[in-house]
Formats: sequence, structure tokens, C-alpha cells
Amino acid sequence: MHNRTSYDGTGANDTPSTVLVTGGAGFIGSHACVELLDHGYEVIVVDDYSHSSPQVLTRVERIAGRFVGAVYELDIRDRRALSAVFDRHSVDAVVHFAAHKAVGASTRMPVPYYDVNVGGTTALLTAMHEHNVRRLVFSSSCSLYGETGGGPLDESTPARPTNPYARSKWLCEQILADVCRHWPEFVVLSLRYFNPVGAHPSGLLGEDPGGTPDNLMPYIAQVAVGRRERLQVFGGDYPTPDGTAIRDYLHVMDTVEAHRVALDHLNDTPGMQVFNIGTGTGSSVLDVAAAFGSASGRAIPYEIVDRRPGDVAALVADAGAVERAWGWRPTRDLFTMCRDAWHFQQLNPRGYAGSARRPNTKE
Ligand code: NAD
Ligand code: WQD
Repeated sequence: MHNRTSYDGTGANDTPSTVLVTGGAGFIGSHACVELLDHGYEVIVVDDYSHSSPQVLTRVERIAGRFVGAVYELDIRDRRALSAVFDRHSVDAVVHFAAHKAVGASTRMPVPYYDVNVGGTTALLTAMHEHNVRRLVFSSSCSLYGETGGGPLDESTPARPTNPYARSKWLCEQILADVCRHWPEFVVLSLRYFNPVGAHPSGLLGEDPGGTPDNLMPYIAQVAVGRRERLQVFGGDYPTPDGTAIRDYLHVMDTVEAHRVALDHLNDTPGMQVFNIGTGTGSSVLDVAAAFGSASGRAIPYEIVDRRPGDVAALVADAGAVERAWGWRPTRDLFTMCRDAWHFQQLNPRGYAGSARRPNTKE
């Protein structure tokens, strides 16, 4: 563990020491809490557990060997409750994960998606402004690029969101950029993740989608463990080498490392900067199934079915900007992503259901 000095916002070498993590019990947020605790940060979590369980934070603390400073069960849209958190803690920076993220659900329930994702972000900005907290790392998404030509996408690629979820992220980015223009001390790093997958190498934290997984890696993991019969590969007629769609899969540990490095750079340039967080390497659906098969030693039966509506042939990051800016890039390969996801799946065949509940979810 590294020690942090406190942050006064004046020196170029200061980095924030107390970080508020919204959505800290979620898939990426929980791994981020471990990463921040491991690096000496004081971590405060807010989460309403709408898509997670409080048990996760017990595991975070077990891995890190340290306690989360405080945990608040609240909806980020609850302005009074959120403001009280900022009253109680001297927050140096916020990492904002809390959002609804299912693309399909967003097309059926667009208003709740805008309410949580956009309304939640403006509620957070209100509390930050009232408490003069000026540093934010925002969870954005490659999904805002939408339908593209297929080559590696850099950050200048125009946003063309094709569903309410992706549009909510694009709206948040526009709001944040505008707020930065009018609140000159405000510093925002918006990280557009590609496809975060995998799990903490301990097997204690991972992705627990609940119900039938929408996403590829948790679905394959459930096939490997015997919960589902076979993988349905959505589309075998894409213009790709094996006919299946290509994505840029990124280990969740690399994803959260990017946030920790981002916190180190929150002082560099006032205003907002946007970075892709991806590996720059594309893998097809069949590549992922093969890698998972070799990491788990289990065959992954599959059948090729129709394309999933709204899917595109290829989404791969040009990940050069973040490397040029911070000298950072992801290091974990597809095999490691599958190995760690498999480890979590084996240790938690039913996800977090049934694990010990955190004794006290409020401070
Ligand atoms: P997740 O659903 O596992 O975590 C989100 C967390 O936010 C959950 O713990 C949930 O309970 C909490 N939450 C939701 N609404 C809330 C509210 N109103 N108030 C308080 N807490 C609330 O999702 P994740 O995969 O960890 O994603 C984290 C962030 O990263 C999201 O903003 C998501 O849009 C973004 N993102 C995810 C991916 C991905 O593939 N997982 C890719 C790109 C971007
Ligand atoms: C990957 C590939 C599917 C399941 C999603 C969100 C995006 C971002 C990342 C949040 C696709 C195929 C999947 C299955 C399959 N999240 N597939 N069988 O769609 O690239 O991106 O997560 O910001 O916004 O849309 O990820 O894991 O759902 O799919 O063949 O059972 O696997 O068609 O080609 P996606 P995914």
C-alpha cells in the first residue's frame, strides 16, 4: 500500500486522497475500490444496490485488507442525501460509475435511463459544485460511437449514439464539457471504455449480471460452468475473418488501473479531456469462445444464430491518446481475461447470491 498526502488542489504534484466512488458496489466500481484502497486512497462509496449487492463491499475490504471509509446506500438522484455525504467527508475527487447500462433495457425504458444516467450526473454535479469539489473521472462508453466504418476509433470519431443508453453517455459528456467551460476550475476526465471483462484474480470479485446475461463473457462463463447449454453466436455473416463480430475486450483490472492513473492526472489540464480505454486489439466472438475454452479446459458448445439487432461488425479502440498522455496502456491479454472470469465463475457459480451480507451498509 502507498501512502497519500492530503490534497489542497494547488500543487502540481498533489493527487486526491479521498475519493468518492459512485456505483462502488458494481462490477467495475468494486474493482476500482480495491485498486484505490491498494494505492492508499481513502474510499467513500455511494450505491443504491439497484444492480449490485452490499456483500461485494465486504469482499473488497477482504482483498484490500483495509476498510472502505464509509458506505452510503442512496440513490444519487437524492440530492439531499448526496449533499449530506459531501458535508460529512472532505472529498478530493469523484469517480462516477453509478448508471444503468443495459442497452436493450434502455430501448424499452428510455426515460428511467435518462433519469438515472443524466439526472444522476447533474445531481452529482450540483453536490460537487455546492461543496467546491472540482475533480471528476466519468464512466463513458464506446457505445456512443454507434455505427462506424469499422477501423480503430480515435476520440475524434463523431458520436452517433443509436440507443438511449449510449445517448445518455453522450449527453453527459456534452453537459460535462459545457460545465467545464463555465466553471473554469473544474477538471473532468471522461473515459470511454470499450468492453471490460474478466474479474479480480482472487476470484472474489467479478461480473454477476443476475438472470440471463446480455453480455458475451458472462454468458460463456455460464455455459462453461454448466448453467447454460450453449452459446448463441449472434451473426456469422459479418465482414470479418471468421464472420463473427469483433470487439475490443479489456480486463477489468486494466480498466480500473486507468482510473487510478487518471486520478494522478486530474491536475494536469483544467477542463475536460476524453480518452478511449481499450487495448486496440479486436477479438471475434469465436476468438473469445476459443480463449475461454482453453482457459477453462471446458468445451464451449455454440450455434450461430441471427445477428442481434443494433450490433455492429467491429468496434476497436485506437488507444494511442491515453498512452501518449499518461504513458499507460492495458497489459492483460484475452487469455488472462478468460482465466480470471472463469476463476470467479467457478468460485461463485451463482454469483454473489448467498454470500455474507455486509453488516452495516451505512456509516
Ligand atoms: P454495474 O451495473 O455493475 O454497476 C453500476 C452500479 O451503480 C451498481 O452497483 C448499481 O447498483 C449502481 N447504481 C445504479 N443506479 C444508481 C443510482 N441511481 N444511485 C446509486 N447507485 C446506482 O455496471 P458496471 O459494468 O460496473 O458499469 C459502471 C459504469 O461503467 C457505468 O456508468 C457504465 O455505463 C459504464 N460502462 C460499463 C461498461 C461495461 O461493459 N461494463 C462499458 C462502458 C461503460
Ligand atoms: C459482444 C459481442 C454480440 C452475447 C456492450 C454494450 C456497450 C458497452 C460494452 C457499456 C457482440 C456477441 C453477445 C451472446 C453473442 N457497455 N454476443 N452472444 O454489445 O459489444 O457492448 O458492452 O457501455 O455499450 O452494448 O458487448 O458483450 O453484449 O457483445 O454472440 O450471448 O458478442 O453480438 O458481437 P457489446 P456484448
